[in-house]
Amino acid sequence: MSNRMWGGRFASGPAEIMEEINASIGFDKRLAPQDIRGSLAHVAMLGAAGILPADDVAAIEAGLKSVRDEIEAGRFVFKRELEDIHMSVESRLTEIVGPAAGRLHTARSRNDQVATDMKLWVRDTLDSLDQQAADLQRALAETALKHAGTVMPGFTHLQSAQPVTFGHHCLAYVEMLARDRGRFRDARARLNECPLGAAALAGTSFPIDRHATASALGFDRPTANSLDSVADRDFALESLAAASICAVHLSRFAEELVVWTSAQFNFVKLSDGYTTGSSIMPQKRNPDAAELVRAKSGRIIGALTGLLVVMKGLPLAYSKDMQEDKEGTFDALQALSLCLAAMTGMVKDLEPNAGVLSQAAGSGYATATDLADWLVRELGLPFRQAHHVTGRLVGAASAKGVGLEELSLPEMQEAEPRITDAVYAVLGVENSVASRTSYGGTAPDNVRTQAQGWIERLG
Ligand code: ARG
Repeated sequence: MSNRMWGGRFASGPAEIMEEINASIGFDKRLAPQDIRGSLAHVAMLGAAGILPADDVAAIEAGLKSVRDEIEAGRFVFKRELEDIHMSVESRLTEIVGPAAGRLHTARSRNDQVATDMKLWVRDTLDSLDQQAADLQRALAETALKHAGTVMPGFTHLQSAQPVTFGHHCLAYVEMLARDRGRFRDARARLNECPLGAAALAGTSFPIDRHATASALGFDRPTANSLDSVADRDFALESLAAASICAVHLSRFAEELVVWTSAQFNFVKLSDGYTTGSSIMPQKRNPDAAELVRAKSGRIIGALTGLLVVMKGLPLAYSKDMQEDKEGTFDALQALSLCLAAMTGMVKDLEPNAGVLSQAAGSGYATATDLADWLVRELGLPFRQAHHVTGRLVGAASAKGVGLEELSLPEMQEAEPRITDAVYAVLGVENSVASRTSYGGTAPDNVRTQAQGWIERLG
């Protein structure tokens, strides 16, 4: 049998494989709420503009609501031969209200319909990702406040560089997430124009009111060019790009958690709730959730790359290629949502091992810069020379297998005779972090102020 919606000029139905490759219902059925919302706005406008008589409008509206109820209750039967969510809803609507249902598709096309549905879905999802990112920020800021003075090694090249505080490290991710949220909001603001009424590609001869449907659906305005309205998926690309960047931030943090929870580092402890055991090695406590957050960035970036490649060669306007925007977008944004939730759970539960962190903070000559700064400040050495003197002292300490603070004063004075006892004060890790009071620096007072500021702003 040929397709009921568009089969007029077809003598026979599609080949089995055609149906399989063509159908999107398996994945676009999740757009049912958006599709029905869009149809309700469209039919109300058709009525108000005098394009459809009031009784048809009323019948269609009632019918759409019962279709929505059936879908919500799980009573709706999705059929592959109806291809996609748009035709599935309309076909069921026809069964419920009869031929009047056929008037719903006046002055629109599946092309503007699907663009509208996707925008509505992506918009809602961006809003909830923004909330979830805020939850993670809050958890991090609270941890930062608690550990504003917990010292730990700061790394560059994964080599001990200078001591920092655990709170400062947490706040670094709060800042990254703030920019991620800014990107979600930017993407949302740019996508918020309504394609409905662009019809297939050229607009329509019916006297529709696109401003009315745009505002009924919460859009700022209708899109201004009918070709562009149905031909672009940049809103999905931009959201996937923002999601990819956020996923990369989470992946880096996840990587740190994996390293930090290893027996060799032992910097933090994750809770039982976010780790798993091994079926063969009883001592194991694996950071699976962190590993999966790290891994899921792969599919999120993959979805962005996939859709960029789908779009890059398409002539205007709509091509069926664009149906391939859905699975990747749904999957990626859903994966990011799961990652944000898992990260928030891990952060809320995690316990830094303050003793281990403090000891590690002082190892690896992490206060060498403090020593060089002291030579500059107290003895007036040019920084380059101070760097050189400090290098000699690190060499001497390392040859003896001791820390800088374990060198005797005479040993210090071999490198620079004017060094006094006072130098020992800056070699301590606590003093080192406390001295980093420049704006944005790691001093516990700074960290406390910033953490408190975030907690207030996040509400
Ligand atoms: N299922 C289609 C999609 O997701 C809907 C639009 C179909 N349009 C068309 N002209 N065949 O892209």
